[in-house]
Amino acid sequence: MTVQVAQDLPTLSELADERFARDPGFAYRAAHAQPGPGLFQMPTGDGLIATAHRTLADLMHHPALGAQHRRKRRSGAGAKGALARMDSYSPFFMNEPAHTPIAIATYRPMSPARNHPLIETITHAAEKALDDMLDRGGVVDLRRDYVQVIVRNFWVRFLGLPAEAAPLLEKCSADILPMLKFENTPGEVETANRAAQTMRDYVEVHHGTVGDPPGGDSPGGESSGGDSTGGESAGGDSTGETFLDHFESVLADGDWKDLPRNAATTAAAITFDGIDSAAGGAANVIYTCLSHPDQWALLVENPRLVHDAWREAIRLEPPFFGLHRGAYKDIDYDGVRIDAGTNLLMAWGAANRDPRVFENPHVFDIRRQKRRTLGFGGGPRICKGRHLAMLEGEIALRVLLERLASIELLVDEPDWGGPGMVRAIRSIPARLSPK
Ligand code: HEM
Repeated sequence: MTVQVAQDLPTLSELADERFARDPGFAYRAAHAQPGPGLFQMPTGDGLIATAHRTLADLMHHPALGAQHRRKRRSGAGAKGALARMDSYSPFFMNEPAHTPIAIATYRPMSPARNHPLIETITHAAEKALDDMLDRGGVVDLRRDYVQVIVRNFWVRFLGLPAEAAPLLEKCSADILPMLKFENTPGEVETANRAAQTMRDYVEVHHGTVGDPPGGDSPGGESSGGDSTGGESAGGDSTGETFLDHFESVLADGDWKDLPRNAATTAAAITFDGIDSAAGGAANVIYTCLSHPDQWALLVENPRLVHDAWREAIRLEPPFFGLHRGAYKDIDYDGVRIDAGTNLLMAWGAANRDPRVFENPHVFDIRRQKRRTLGFGGGPRICKGRHLAMLEGEIALRVLLERLASIELLVDEPDWGGPGMVRAIRSIPARLSPK
């Protein structure tokens, strides 16, 4: 078989079209219309992009497709300074031998086996955010006033931080997020660097100062009283194990050489991973459900479809359409040579609209028969926060369904955020009527 090299591959120029952020469907259609493995050159000249479901499902397990090559990226992933340090401590950017132990340590406190106290915390945060919106009345923003509040308050509690940390974590996370663009201005990199440093320092100094965090080793990780879930606790015991404590004990107990040893930096990196992705994911789920009145009516009639609705919305509208992996050895896949050192943008959003796998792939259908969606990647590098993201998204949706008689969506022109890999709805203005 003749092996095609990267330079021979067609360019997916649709990715650079300004329509992409609003509705990527046309670009995915163009990609899926091409024969072959769905591998293209990036129009930015920044490596390759994989779009076909089959290709992503195969390559995600490939042992030579590890962490992205940061220095080869044009965006902030290659930045120096505090941001680079933070990235180096995240499983996202690690290869073996560090990746596996750090990835397991990240996943463990968010895994289904430990998520019971997380459910309690998230439900409490959702109920409280909804109460606050109803008290205020008028037009609310379900992204800013609801999902964002749920997610940031979750992290405050998970890290055992005082209440004032919530807006700080959210701001830092928002300042780092532009690093998911394809290219950054020096100003964006500087802002992100400052945010990375602030977040890390704050987490290191203040973690564990308030309450019993969920998932801790205190009995059941239960709240120690007060309203710490909402991030409003004024004090309490610091007896529970925070997410950062968990990392410290994993790093101290393990007999691993050359592992990153700063638990605060890893905890801050994962907090960044966790805030905008989960808030963006939950916002996309809520907006997608509400903007399809027939599907919303199905949910109202049968709230047990919440999980199916969440799954289908994340398939169709994931909060970022792709994330990078990097080849650290040459890879030959289906007649294409991916050279060592190449970055490959794994376009999970495109794979999830592949007509070879999904019938009517661009249609939102919460009763779609289960097919293999790839919104969280797969293989050893599968998203470690997927259960947490699922809990946050489903609980946010369920609480709205349980407590509201109706939601009037007031979005004229949806603001899908981006550009770059992010595609999360930035604002969901709505008027709420309680039951
Ligand atoms: C709806 C929300 C989310 C989506 C769609 C999402 C999606 C993804 C995807 C596609 C990957 C790459 C997987 C691969 O390359 O195979 C990933 C990796 C990762 N995600 Fe998420 N994610 C979400 C939420 C979260 C949250 C809430 C956290 C943290 C608490 C998180 C932490 C991570 C980490 C640490 C990795 C790197 C895993 C590794 O390389 O081992 N994610 N995520």
